[in-house]
Amino acid sequence: MAGYELMRKFDAVILGASGFTGKYVLREWLRCTQEDSQRHRGLTLAVAGRSRSKLEAALLWAGHSGGSHRRSDDDPDVSIIDNADATDAASLGHLCRSTRVLLNCVGPCNQYGEAVVAACVEAGTHYVDISGEAEFMERIEAKFHDAALAAKVLVVSACAAVSIVSDVGLVHHLRCWPPSTAPSSVFAYARIHSFASNHVTSAETGILALANADALARFRRSLPRRPPLKIPGPSPPIELDSCIHYEKKLGYWAAALPICDRSVVRRTFWALHGHPRGLPVLNAASIQDQENFDKAWQMVRPVHFRLFLAIRTLRWAVLFSWATRILKTLSRHAFGLNLLLKYPHIFTIGAFTRQGPTEKQVEEGSFEMWFVGKGYQKDLDGGVKAKKVVTRVKGPEPCYTMSAIGIVQCALLCLHSRDLLPVGGVLTTASAFGGANIQESLEGRGLLFQHINTTSKENNEPEYEDSLITLKPWIVFALPIILGIAIVIVCTFVLSITIF
Ligand SMILES: NC(=O)c1ccc[n+]([C@@H]2O[C@H](COP(=O)([O-])OP(=O)(O)OC[C@H]3O[C@@H](n4cnc5c(N)ncnc54)[C@H](OP(=O)(O)O)[C@@H]3O)[C@@H](O)[C@H]2O)c1
Repeated sequence: MAGYELMRKFDAVILGASGFTGKYVLREWLRCTQEDSQRHRGLTLAVAGRSRSKLEAALLWAGHSGGSHRRSDDDPDVSIIDNADATDAASLGHLCRSTRVLLNCVGPCNQYGEAVVAACVEAGTHYVDISGEAEFMERIEAKFHDAALAAKVLVVSACAAVSIVSDVGLVHHLRCWPPSTAPSSVFAYARIHSFASNHVTSAETGILALANADALARFRRSLPRRPPLKIPGPSPPIELDSCIHYEKKLGYWAAALPICDRSVVRRTFWALHGHPRGLPVLNAASIQDQENFDKAWQMVRPVHFRLFLAIRTLRWAVLFSWATRILKTLSRHAFGLNLLLKYPHIFTIGAFTRQGPTEKQVEEGSFEMWFVGKGYQKDLDGGVKAKKVVTRVKGPEPCYTMSAIGIVQCALLCLHSRDLLPVGGVLTTASAFGGANIQESLEGRGLLFQHINTTSKENNEPEYEDSLITLKPWIVFALPIILGIAIVIVCTFVLSITIF
């Protein structure tokens, strides 16, 4: 640990702890450090934000899992920093110099994140956040990677459910492939078991990210071209991005999820490009078993990755597909964007509300993400077999519980396993923490990483079609209209029979 790090007043600061997600992050930190007090002994924490009363309320809520707002003697000792404003460089500089790691829960990051990252890199403070905005993440990587590397600072975004589950889950999936195989594509199917609506800031963040799609494309074009990633086998059919398909083996309808996971996963592959044994770590002597460490990275090779929402019934899949198209179209025009930001609960059909989910709803939620990987295996006789590997990650309610677990574990790895982490830079959860066993840390907080099965086929066909039934986009659009016409015809028929 660098000398100046030891002199910091706090080990960790949670910025935005008064927010809906921030208070779950605070509660997870307190629970986690209290449950394993031996390991986390002596860690000091502060919560930071603009309003002392809001931070005090968050602290009281988090200190009592029941949500009582009375302070008692055994409440955790957490300092409050109430003059931290993400738009004020001076207050951010002061804040970042006071801590070893900063957990940023302020959103949207597209609006407030860059100044916080700049202050952290400047102060030599590790930074983790719950952003899910591809444009923000790619922009700060281009802007701060070299400075963060030089300062030996880790800047890691998307430590929340989006996208730690895809990123770390994919690395786990690839590690389940036997060494003589070559994975080609991995489709992830996220299934959410929760009937609660999420808090509205997440909708606003998502809408602004959709609105930024053109800016992101322009930004990507402005960057120097990278050599293409070498992936065996053909790309998945392009229509999978815009239409609905049915995954026969899993029994789910699936529609593409317009979130940043694909961008994050590609950044993981780019970070590891040219580093088949993982990124160089800060202190190579701290690796206890170099052979195992190298082996763990060996199978983490680029694949075509796609993320879908897994839905039980066709009608909900069509509705979801329609809703995302409407959101994408409206978000591209100033008038539409204003409407969306003013009435997000209406346009998301109640999926996001100002009050957010209740504590009970958060407690009862859960998720599972299936990873269906297809690729090849070379036989001893020189033949090629098609191979398929299925894995799954299961966990608690994703938006708040899982997100809190994700960012807290990333921050704790920065504090406890610094030597095993890459030297520095703007990285993803998998490329930064994959060598320090982030999977084990997540399992310790209740996540389950499972290898479901591995199967082979006696031919080398690229098998995208065998387990998928695809509905073309025009069918998805026409389906509600055809159904509407059919209902009108049936009603007219029934009415005419009754009347005459
Ligand atoms: N990736 C994921 O899976 C995931 C999951 C959950 C949430 N998120 C993201 O997390 C972000 C926050 O969501 P939320 O529901 O927690 O929102 P929220 O309840 O509105 O909380 C926002 C927090 O940011 C603080 N804040 C806003 N502007 C600030 C500024 N200028 N300076 C300092 N603090 C400021 C607020 O402080 P005040 O109390 O002072 O207003 C509040 O604490 C969103 O962008 C959301 O997309 C991501």
